[in-house]
Amino acid sequence: MRRFLLHTAILAGIAGVCGALVVGFGLFDVSARKGHLPGVSWVLHTAFRNAVELRAPSAEAVPDLSDPDLVALGARHYDGACRVCHAAPGEARTATVRAMLPAPPPIREAVADWEPQHLFAIVKHGVKMSGMPAWPTDRRDDDVWPVVAFLTRVPDMTLAQYEDLVAAPERTEQGDDTTVAYCASCHGADGRGRDNAHIPRLDLLSEAYIAATLAAYRSGARESGIMRHAASTLDDTDDARLARLFARQDGETAPQPAPAVDADLVARGRSLATGASPASTKVPACAACHGPWPQRLSADFPRLSGQPEPYLRRQLELWRAEERGGTARAPLMHEAARALEDADIRALAAFYAAQPPE
Ligand code: HEC
Ligand code: HEC
Ligand code: HEC
Repeated sequence: MRRFLLHTAILAGIAGVCGALVVGFGLFDVSARKGHLPGVSWVLHTAFRNAVELRAPSAEAVPDLSDPDLVALGARHYDGACRVCHAAPGEARTATVRAMLPAPPPIREAVADWEPQHLFAIVKHGVKMSGMPAWPTDRRDDDVWPVVAFLTRVPDMTLAQYEDLVAAPERTEQGDDTTVAYCASCHGADGRGRDNAHIPRLDLLSEAYIAATLAAYRSGARESGIMRHAASTLDDTDDARLARLFARQDGETAPQPAPAVDADLVARGRSLATGASPASTKVPACAACHGPWPQRLSADFPRLSGQPEPYLRRQLELWRAEERGGTARAPLMHEAARALEDADIRALAAFYAAQPPE
């Protein structure tokens, strides 16, 4: 027994010295010129497939991905964050990308073998040591799904259809400012969100709130993989410039939103928001801070009237779960949303979405 242990220790020692020599003298070939040894690629690929299948949510957890607004939002994020590696549907990848090891597959190939729940797991977690990044935050599963909604459309999408989907609207007075065009591809040249139900209107907000919010996305104080990516290369000067461009300026009136559908829900939302409902003792009157006001209290309190209903609903769910941060004033909202029931959230979102912007 002692002899066996001695031999094992000697062998381990020799292996250790060999390993140290390979590392120390740079003998291990890290170049991306040649692939793995035969067999290693198979092991890695099988490990990748199994790991994705293990971490994917169940097929029942996949939300409805047919909403065209979800697809459009996902496509525009893809264009800014993923196209550089996987190219657009039907577009050639650059020679530099093809020289990566492993090379990012063209997007039609990348989606071919996977169900939506697997695509979700890949986009959320990324693939270690391959160049495939993880989603910039692990706390917002809801903002990964738009990208998955887009990926499920890729097999039938032509390059022309893709370009149409992601094109920025004209903004002639801004010349060819690429940052503004990028923001405008989602928020619209006028900040109105291009009528997409999942994208907030910026033309309702104040300059101070927009600039502070962009900084909060960049620092991670407000979590969103989509907006963290969009804000990551800006600095304080850009924040101020973009805020000035997109914010509602004094004296401007914002256009009306679409009329509401469910009058009862809106009425319930109104009584909650204004504190008129007897059931709302634990819910503070939102109107004091957010309107409809007799007189606006502070530009730091964002206008809600006219924001799209699905956006408001999602943000209220995030506030209630304390999953949304923001500026230094965000704790006011954790307090305000704590006691909201699901039905309250639906009513409040319906009410504010139906109000004409103040
Ligand atoms: C820096 C380059 C890079 C970026 C940016 C990137 N990827 Fe990838 N992606 C890769 C590489 C490399 C792989 C291959 C991983 C492997 O096979 O081990 C990959 C794999 C994938 C796959 C799985 C394909 C397969 O092998 O079956 C999907 C789907 C995917 N990426 C989607 C995306 C999406 C969506 C985004 C944007 C949110 C994105 N990628 C951003 C490099 C990138
Ligand atoms: C790919 C689409 C996309 C792009 C590009 C984009 N945004 Fe956004 N933006 C969103 C979405 C979606 C949200 C909501 C995120 C959340 O849930 O926090 C948002 C939120 C915001 C908010 C917070 C609004 C509020 O009511 O609190 C601001 C401010 C903002 N974006 C400004 C910008 C600026 C400035 C740019 C350009 C640098 C930009 N966005 C680029 C999609 C986009
Ligand atoms: C004491 C003031 C106050 C009260 C009361 C209040 N809020 Fe807020 N709310 C805020 C502030 C401040 C913010 C912005 C936080 C930040 O800067 O990040 C905000 C943000 C929000 C947002 C996100 C807006 C956007 O554009 O993303 C929603 C939605 C919201 N509040 C809904 C409500 C509702 C519904 C109620 C009533 C149940 C309510 N609030 C009560 C102060 C308040």
